[in-house]
Amino acid sequence: MKRIAVLTSGGDAPGMNAAVRAVVRKGLYEGMEVYGINYGYAGLVAGDIRKMHRRDVGDLISRGGTFLYSARYPEFATEEGQLKGIEQLKKFGIEGLVVIGGDGSYRGALALTKHGYPTIGLPGTIDNDIAGTDFCIGFDTAINTVLDSLDKIRDTATSHVRTFIVEVMGRNAGDIALWAGVAGGAEQIIIPEKEFDMSEVAEEIRKGRERGKKHTIIVLAEGVMKGNEFADKLYEYGDFHQRVTVLGHVQRGGSPTARDRVLASKFGATAVDMLKDEKGGLCLGLVNNQIVANDIIETLGKKKHMPDVSLYQLNKEISY
Ligand code: F6P
Repeated sequence: MKRIAVLTSGGDAPGMNAAVRAVVRKGLYEGMEVYGINYGYAGLVAGDIRKMHRRDVGDLISRGGTFLYSARYPEFATEEGQLKGIEQLKKFGIEGLVVIGGDGSYRGALALTKHGYPTIGLPGTIDNDIAGTDFCIGFDTAINTVLDSLDKIRDTATSHVRTFIVEVMGRNAGDIALWAGVAGGAEQIIIPEKEFDMSEVAEEIRKGRERGKKHTIIVLAEGVMKGNEFADKLYEYGDFHQRVTVLGHVQRGGSPTARDRVLASKFGATAVDMLKDEKGGLCLGLVNNQIVANDIIETLGKKKHMPDVSLYQLNKEISY
């Protein structure tokens, strides 16, 4: 292929810029023309497409967010939207597309693939909830952001002998809660993938207090319930001086970690290699520390993301 394009879609994730930079620079290195599409699939359908040059991606590797902007665009779920998108790509003579994003973005990439348009998906979401990869772009930065907050919350929790419920993002997945919870030494981690019993949560807090613990930190994945709802239910079992902190969109921002930048760079360059070889219909992943190219139809159809739930048991054994 000689002319390719790249877009970012769905919730932004730190490292998306590094991935776009890698696609642009590697594409130019291989003698291709590279186009950037603004505002994800919405911009694709609207034809908001521009040719990218080396300098357009300068000074971006350290920046969070996405300079190509992003959008959630449910209209792309319709055949009409998809065909309009392909029409725009053809109008610009673009032969292949790299899509960087999460679940919804992958469904768009899958639809383009089913229409026979060569598309490569790169996993970019702080939720880390994409099938076929151990890690997504942005996840490492997000868990380090959460960790920074947990360390700070621990200081004040100890001073006042309080219980903190820290609600973290992740949509329906518990990855952020698990990784940040273990790293932050949280007493309890509540995730959608594991059932919990509020009376046991309360009992654990009580036992900790009896052992002389000065704080309790409970990391709650948003996919389970809202932090305030959890705190209210916990009150039914006792007053543990509970406070709720909702970290919210702070988890989506910030300069990407080295790990996210390197992962994004590898994914971006590999996507270009695939398109150069006329390959499409793939989604890239990191499995056992190796970059892999999975068939997107098969991956989204058959595989399901599962977090590393061994971290849940580990936390029970070492953080009480
Ligand atoms: O998918 C990323 C994510 O940040 C989720 O963790 C969260 O549930 C959702 O997006 C929030 O979406 P929005 O930014 O549209 O409010």
